[in-house]
Amino acid sequence: MTHSFHIRSCGINPHQWYVVAPSAQLKDQPLNLTLWKEEIVLYRDETGKVQALEDRCPHRQVKLSQGRVVGNQLECAYHGWRFDSKGNCAAIPYLEAKQKLPQCKIRHYPVQELDGFIWLFLGEGDPELMKPLRVPEWEHLNYIATVSVLECKAHYSFLIENLMDMYHGHLHQDYQAWASAILKEVRADEKRVDAYYEAQSYYRIDKIWSISQLFFPATRRLHPEPLHVSYVYPHWVSTLGQDFKIYCLFCPVHETYTRAYLVHFTSLNAFWRLHKLPVWFRRLVKNSLFGCAQKMLDGLVHQDVVMIEQEQQAYLENPARRSYELNPTVKAVQRLIRQQAELG
Ligand code: FES
Ligand SMILES: [Fe+2]
Repeated sequence: MTHSFHIRSCGINPHQWYVVAPSAQLKDQPLNLTLWKEEIVLYRDETGKVQALEDRCPHRQVKLSQGRVVGNQLECAYHGWRFDSKGNCAAIPYLEAKQKLPQCKIRHYPVQELDGFIWLFLGEGDPELMKPLRVPEWEHLNYIATVSVLECKAHYSFLIENLMDMYHGHLHQDYQAWASAILKEVRADEKRVDAYYEAQSYYRIDKIWSISQLFFPATRRLHPEPLHVSYVYPHWVSTLGQDFKIYCLFCPVHETYTRAYLVHFTSLNAFWRLHKLPVWFRRLVKNSLFGCAQKMLDGLVHQDVVMIEQEQQAYLENPARRSYELNPTVKAVQRLIRQQAELG
């Protein structure tokens, strides 16, 4: 049996904070999602706080996400049973005076809203022992965000290998994201893999008009920049020089499906004049430029998804076929995935 046979059916370490939705996606209706084969319903209680329950009414096993929020409780659409945020049955509309509420508890999950996303802890242990990855640029006035949702019919290992192996810049030549990567260093421990490449960047954001480089290829000039990529299990983060930072926040759905949120930041750090303007104005600039790299980011994501889904298909058709690998980051990533899965 080859190495690659195991990695594509590897589980996840559930004792981690996963990203399950952008904050803005959860409004007053309950929201269904799947995180590593578990169906979960998110809802906002009357204070706006996010709650997460198993998406299953214990009465007849239908989805609670079909129901509605009443105060701090979630009401099933079918017979109107209600559940509190701890997963206890709290009310049944036709309960008779001599009847007791059934002890039909469902699972609830630790969940928190942070840096523009909803983070959920899937494990049974103490969620306080683990810290979610922070995305400080989300609130910072000097960074412009663009988000692309990546939906991919493949095991999450294919995606993280793609993100760590920067030699795949070849695939994105027409989007001019980066060029000529040369791997210089890989470091790994039981929590993360860090790789450093020398690369060429097309972008230099040092004048206010340089934002136009995101739209007009003719204004770009190749120049050397350090390219750092890190798998901070279970998420990914990358910087290219001073001006770009990208996160990939993972929501592994099951063995052959992965959702992830790619969050790209363009930095305005170089514009010191801008920093002297009132905060309300800087926030206006930040908000009105939100999504300025959308076309590029969606284009990159699409190209990657096509390749990754083909890898998954090829693996399913012939799991024993061997692949050849020259980039040591891929091996390091696979080792970390296995180690973390064993902690699950
Ligand atoms: S199935 Fe949910 S209340 Fe009956
Ligand atoms: Fe890519």
